[in-house]
Amino acid sequence: MIAIIDFGSQYTMLISRKVKELGVKSRIFPAGCSYNFKNLKIQGIILSGSPSSVSKNNRLKADRELFYSGIPVLGICYGMQAMVDCCGGRVGKGIKREYGKSILKIIGKSPLLEGVEQESNVWMSHYDRVLKIPQGFRIIASTSDLEAAAIEKRNKKLYGVQFHPEVTHSACGNRILSNFVFNICRAEKDWDLGDWIDDAVDKIKEEVKGGKVIMALSGGVDSSVVCALLSRALKEQFYPFFVDHGLMRKKDIERINKVFLDKLDIAVTILNERERFFKKLKGVSDPEDKRKIIGNEFIKVFVKAAEKIKGATHLAQGTIFPDIIESAGTGNGSAKIKSHHNVGGLPEKLDLKLLEPLKELYKDEVRNIGIKMGLPEELIKQHPFPGPGLGVRIMGPVDSKKAKILNKADAILEQELKENSLYYGLWQAFCVFLPVKTVGVMGDARTYENVIALRCVKSTDAMTASWADLPHGALERVSTRIVNEVEGINRVVLDITNKPPGTIEWE
Ligand code: XMP
Repeated sequence: MIAIIDFGSQYTMLISRKVKELGVKSRIFPAGCSYNFKNLKIQGIILSGSPSSVSKNNRLKADRELFYSGIPVLGICYGMQAMVDCCGGRVGKGIKREYGKSILKIIGKSPLLEGVEQESNVWMSHYDRVLKIPQGFRIIASTSDLEAAAIEKRNKKLYGVQFHPEVTHSACGNRILSNFVFNICRAEKDWDLGDWIDDAVDKIKEEVKGGKVIMALSGGVDSSVVCALLSRALKEQFYPFFVDHGLMRKKDIERINKVFLDKLDIAVTILNERERFFKKLKGVSDPEDKRKIIGNEFIKVFVKAAEKIKGATHLAQGTIFPDIIESAGTGNGSAKIKSHHNVGGLPEKLDLKLLEPLKELYKDEVRNIGIKMGLPEELIKQHPFPGPGLGVRIMGPVDSKKAKILNKADAILEQELKENSLYYGLWQAFCVFLPVKTVGVMGDARTYENVIALRCVKSTDAMTASWADLPHGALERVSTRIVNEVEGINRVVLDITNKPPGTIEWE
């Protein structure tokens, strides 16, 4: 196993993930604690970057023992500076901050740089720099701005790089990590997702012991995978609920029955609260008011159901790593970027311990685990669906009739995209109900009905998105089918707005 010491970098998880992608187990340890790595069978240690500065008094220091244990160490960015600081070198402010692409030039042969091009692009993000390397170290690579871009003390197996090998912009990054993990640490490829699942199940059992866990299953990828994991770990000690607020798609509810109840034998309690939500939403057209009502009612319904589970000890959530990093950092000082809807809310209301078994994983890892646990590909590869559901896709006041119309139109769009192999190439594709009536003509008769807008976008992270230029034949088929098959709709329009300036959802 490779230990990663976390000094609070946004990239700590990424380092861990890259090591796992090489087929080697890795575990993150907070900086500032002493560990007996030899007892833990650690074969190598990677020191992460940090938003902090080695020259600050309150800096997180590397444990000196690390560099004398005989276990190979690779310091990345701040990690290299912490190593230099600890081993008697000098770190100080540079003249200018180096951020972005630099060209790395190899100036000395090293097992760390084996197979790396003489010159290659690397990605830098630092202000401080190594001014004097410690005794016994030597510089093995430089950039035009930075002499000590990579250093080594080969006989003690200590290595440092100022750039970030874990990001894809560093062309030689994978090679350097692989050199460190396999050639220097002599680790073996023996990690796979099966191990992760077994470990996670053991950890959940250990954490929950004789307690009871409740959760709100949304039917999305993350909560479905958590549900499968908890059910495997806890069986009858696990109580998943599905709140049917009437604004889910038909297939979401069918899937709960077909996949969770029938196939996986997980007893999900479906709370049919459609009437309650429609009553509360009656006549409300402001998007924020609608969101608030749906969110508050959801919490009330769930809390009421949860309170019936006497002796509940934990609340499970499908939080994944990007949710945490965007909202609060890894707990070791990484900078807060934005708040996230998955974190907070319910736990305070219920006074239960939070269980977040996916919180160290990225989305594609969660998907792979879901497939390995037997969840259907159709569920695992589904497009994101917002918590307030169709409530934010029906413009103006929401009611069950409009929800039914939207549901039908949406099912047609999805079916056509899947049949034309277009669905999985898109980030999201859905219909929006417009409370606008337009005139049409059907079978010689005049119609006066509502409009459906098609919203199909490409994106990698939902922060930005571009409208998808779908084949006109497919669009025409969707439009024809919606107008012919969905009563109440006589016109279909296409949204061709990018994000920004538009958002993906209309409300
Ligand atoms: P926007 O509309 O802001 O959406 O471009 C970005 C992504 O977030 C999804 N979304 C939500 N997801 N609860 C969720 O779980 C919500 O309230 C919510 N609002 C938007 C949206 O579908 C898109 O993928």
